[in-house]
Amino acid sequence: AVERTLSIVKPDAVAKNVVGKIYSRFEEAGLQIVAAKMLRLSDDVAGGFYAEHRERPFFADLVGFMTSGPVVVQVLEGENAIAKNRELMGATNPQEAEAGTIRADFAQSIDANAVHGSDSPASAEREIAYFFAASEICERG
Ligand code: CMP
Repeated sequence: AVERTLSIVKPDAVAKNVVGKIYSRFEEAGLQIVAAKMLRLSDDVAGGFYAEHRERPFFADLVGFMTSGPVVVQVLEGENAIAKNRELMGATNPQEAEAGTIRADFAQSIDANAVHGSDSPASAEREIAYFFAASEICERG
C-alpha cells in the first residue's frame, strides 16, 4: 500500500553537507518528498519527539545531539514507504549497517547516525503530525 513516513536528516549529516545525497537515495528508491523543512530543534521539541525513549540511558545524549545543529525533516510517500525507508537507512548502529545503506555510507556512531525514520504505521502517523500540519503536506500524484 502507499504509505507516508517521517524522515529526519540529523545534525551530523546536515553538517557534512550530504542532504542532497541522502535525498537522492529516497528518490532513486521511488519515494517522493511530499513535505520538507529545515529547523533547529529545541530541547522540548526534541524531547517530545523521542518521548518513548525518555527513560533510556541514552536519552540525554540523544536530545543533546539532536539539538546540536539544524536538521531537515521530511515526509516520504510511496509503496511500502515505512519499511523501504528503514531498508535505505540500514541498522541504527552504523557499524552494523549493511554496505550501501545511508548509515553505512554517511554515519559515524549510534548517536550521530545520519537519519531517523518512523518504525511503524502508528509512529509514522504520530511523527508526521508532530512536525507537519496537514496543509503543509503536498499531493504529488
Ligand atoms: P533513531 O532512529 O533516531 O531513534 C532513537 C535514537 O537514539 C536512535 O536513532 C539512535 O541515534 C539513538 N541511540 C543512542 N543509543 C541507542 C541505543 N543503545 N539503542 C537505540 N538507539 C540509540
